[in-house]
Amino acid sequence: MKLPCSLCCSLLFLMVLGAGSLLLLARLQDLNETVQQQTPGGNVLVAPRWPLKKDVVFDSIAAVNSSPSELGLQPSSLSVFSGSKPSVTKRHRKLLLKSSFAASDTPTIWGKEQQLKLVKTQASRHRLLSEVCAKYQPGVTEQPVSQRQVSRVYVEDQFRLLYCEVPKAGCSNWKRVLMVLGGSSTSTRDIPHDVAHYGNHLRRLESYVQGGIAERLRSYTKVLFVREPFERLVSAYRDKFESPNSYYHPVFGRPIISRYRANATRSALRTGAGVTFREFVQYLLDVRRPVGMDIHWEPISQLCNPCLLRYNFIGKFESLAEEANFLLQRIGAPKNLTFPDFKDRNPHAERTSWSITQRYFSQLNATERQKAFDFYYMDYLMFNYTKPFKDLH
Ligand SMILES: *[C@@H]1O[C@H](CO)[C@@H](O)[C@H](O)[C@H]1NC(C)=O
Ligand SMILES: *[C@@H]1O[C@H](CO)[C@@H](O)[C@H](O)[C@H]1NC(C)=O
Ligand SMILES: *[C@@H]1O[C@H](CO)[C@@H](O)[C@H](O)[C@H]1NC(C)=O
Ligand SMILES: *[C@@H]1O[C@H](CO)[C@@H](O)[C@H](O)[C@H]1NC(C)=O
Ligand SMILES: *[C@@H]1O[C@H](CO)[C@@H](O)[C@H](O)[C@H]1NC(C)=O
Repeated sequence: MKLPCSLCCSLLFLMVLGAGSLLLLARLQDLNETVQQQTPGGNVLVAPRWPLKKDVVFDSIAAVNSSPSELGLQPSSLSVFSGSKPSVTKRHRKLLLKSSFAASDTPTIWGKEQQLKLVKTQASRHRLLSEVCAKYQPGVTEQPVSQRQVSRVYVEDQFRLLYCEVPKAGCSNWKRVLMVLGGSSTSTRDIPHDVAHYGNHLRRLESYVQGGIAERLRSYTKVLFVREPFERLVSAYRDKFESPNSYYHPVFGRPIISRYRANATRSALRTGAGVTFREFVQYLLDVRRPVGMDIHWEPISQLCNPCLLRYNFIGKFESLAEEANFLLQRIGAPKNLTFPDFKDRNPHAERTSWSITQRYFSQLNATERQKAFDFYYMDYLMFNYTKPFKDLH
């Protein structure tokens, strides 16, 4: 028997309202704990615990929505990505009660099927990440969040976004978008690479006082974009070592050549230019690296602390434009703001593809490939990337 649509909507609304009240309570409690555990001068905060519960709501909405036509619901009613209010807000109510909200609010480019697919993709990414986190970092959300752990996260206060910067996964273009959202530029086109990165238009989450960090973590939409780890690694290598670079060659190139190249020429030792991919990987896998880590090749699981920070939106570089534009639509960004496609570094070099990645990895022996896989294993697991070569285990 089919229930009338309006009844279903009301039922769903009540369900969400019920879950929302629980969340509201949980949030108050967290706030209390946060306040209590803040020590003067200490830089730790209590990680908000609600996102765990929020995922439950997310999943139940997604599950209910598996037959959206019967429920008379449109995918765009799932305001799950607006991390802004895990409890039921006026906006949620409006969204849930409005019967035909999607048709007029949604640009025609977003078909219902496509939106539903994207919502389901998010749900399955969240589910997988939750499982991996529960298994490998149990209880991590009970731990305090340090400023260091949010040091890669950028803040956009107008649209209440937190974006964790992952280099080589579209971060320059994300920074441009954040600048336009925040009003410091009218178009992504007008923002040169260096202004996006060094223009000081974006604030980092770590620069806020503890209460400001905690409140934003609790209420903003937290965004992470990831990329296939080996492809990201090759992209970083090509970017930093295959063309002149006044920072990476002296700082990383010199010690790498001097440690891993037998009979290096004096000029190579002096300039640090010409590091091979194999030498670079030897450095990466060396437990006694002659020079430290770098964000361009640091695993995302360490850079962005996904188990601790519980991102609301997990996008993939492999479908960057579609997913980024979907997110922009979900947060109500101006219609004329679409995710840009600028290639900043070495605009004439071909973008790193999977076939290019394979070519670089063929320079390594089986042991090195396995160790590189082990190095990025958590990224493979958390973000459901398949084992890149058959012989890996
Ligand atoms: C917050 O903590 C105080 C002291 O522990 C307690 O009296 C109060 O009921 C708590 N409030 C909430 C909302 O949990
Ligand atoms: C987008 O629209 C806003 C007004 O809504 C305008 O200020 C801005 O210049 C437009 N941007 C572009 C790139 O057209
Ligand atoms: C380095 O140079 C020495 C002496 O010229 C030579 O015997 C050795 O084979 C060279 N090693 C490599 C790895 O090229
Ligand atoms: C692979 O290369 C490493 C150096 O990075 C070397 O120590 C190891 O013996 C090589 N393994 C095989 C199986 O050739
Ligand atoms: C992982 O991705 C594959 C497609 O590559 C998909 O079939 C599978 O369902 C995903 N697994 C999880 C746990 O999300």
